[in-house]
Amino acid sequence: MALDMNYVRNQFPSLKNEWAFMDNAGGSQILKGCVDNINTYYYSNNVQLGGSYDASKAAANAFGEGRKKIATLFNAAHTNEIVFGPSTTVLLQFLSKSMASQFKAGDEVIVTITDHESNIGPWVWLEERGVIIKFWPMNEETYELELDTLDALMTEKTKLVAFTHVSNLLGTINNVKEITAFVHARDALVCVDAVAYAPHRAIDVLDWNVDFYALSLYKTYGPHHAALYCRHDHLQELDGLYHYFYGKDKVPAKMEPGNANYELSFASGAIVDYLVTLGEQAGATGSNRKKLEAAFVDIEEQETILCKLVLNYLQKRNDCRILGIKDGSDPRKVPTIAFTVHNKDSEQICLSMDKHKIAIRFGDFHARRLSDHLVLNKNNGAVRISLTHYNTVEEVAKLLASLDKVLAE
Ligand SMILES: Cc1ncc(COP(=O)(O)O)c(C=O)c1O
Repeated sequence: MALDMNYVRNQFPSLKNEWAFMDNAGGSQILKGCVDNINTYYYSNNVQLGGSYDASKAAANAFGEGRKKIATLFNAAHTNEIVFGPSTTVLLQFLSKSMASQFKAGDEVIVTITDHESNIGPWVWLEERGVIIKFWPMNEETYELELDTLDALMTEKTKLVAFTHVSNLLGTINNVKEITAFVHARDALVCVDAVAYAPHRAIDVLDWNVDFYALSLYKTYGPHHAALYCRHDHLQELDGLYHYFYGKDKVPAKMEPGNANYELSFASGAIVDYLVTLGEQAGATGSNRKKLEAAFVDIEEQETILCKLVLNYLQKRNDCRILGIKDGSDPRKVPTIAFTVHNKDSEQICLSMDKHKIAIRFGDFHARRLSDHLVLNKNNGAVRISLTHYNTVEEVAKLLASLDKVLAE
């Protein structure tokens, strides 16, 4: 069943705007339900947790409810496997710090060239402890990560493989389940950056059996907040980042020094409420999880329509270098489309598109190593059009008509 676009767009008040927002991989628009939750929290529950009085108990319940709902988003087995933090960057830095004592000199960690720096830098930092960092290169023609190449890098000293579920430049979905099984069979752990995946498809950490999995809620229709899944047994092992009297088993609080933001955690729960409603509209019954999965089927359908329109257009032009998969109907493609135009400056393209009220972006998107590797600086970075399910066919028609004019200038 197709999404009810009228309903969808009404859930995002900021879409009532003359601009077409197509920089969603930078940050999505926020759901009304999330904003309402922030208000509710501030007006009714804005007290410190842990008190015996009613408002404090209500605040604790609201915070817990947010975590519980986000556990449904991840399909985590336990609510306390979800760690909240201000951003994925911070959460992955916390993770590497809290794992550091598990590494000794000579241990190896593998990172990928296709990642955002958030899931590279925190691991490279372990070099200070004598850890050896290796880069998992991509296939130079397809820009895909392949298991043969990983196999060649892994040794009995490999302790962790950090990789992206979807690169925020390439938009290609990596097979997390397959890679995780491969890494586990070689006695190492995985840390997956899911930031560019989470807005587009259902997450299932249980089925994929991942160890660590991070995403930014502000790019997944929520407030400026982030969440990290840590499998329960690994979470117990992490060194705490809070006060000394927060023991190893005080999870997830030991990973949330100074406490996570209560109102944003509560607000984030409305992302799941929204997905559940979309699933019900699609005719799904049963658990919230089932409904959420049904919602993502419809989300994927809408995004594929949009992605095909943009990629078909760019392919026909013959002056565009499209990064990653070029076929919009490939199920491994999310609608994050980066490209350069022969002899054109990407910044100038975006500045011209601003005049048409199309919000897109240029640059390296903090995937600096990938951008350097692809020599994108020749064009002053890539142009990125990042769509999501609330974008419409009409908006994409406006985008392509504007792009046509801008590239003819
Ligand atoms: C793929 C990817 N990973 C990580 C990040 C960092 O997320 P945050 O801003 O929450 O630190 C981004 C942000 O653009 C991203 O696109």
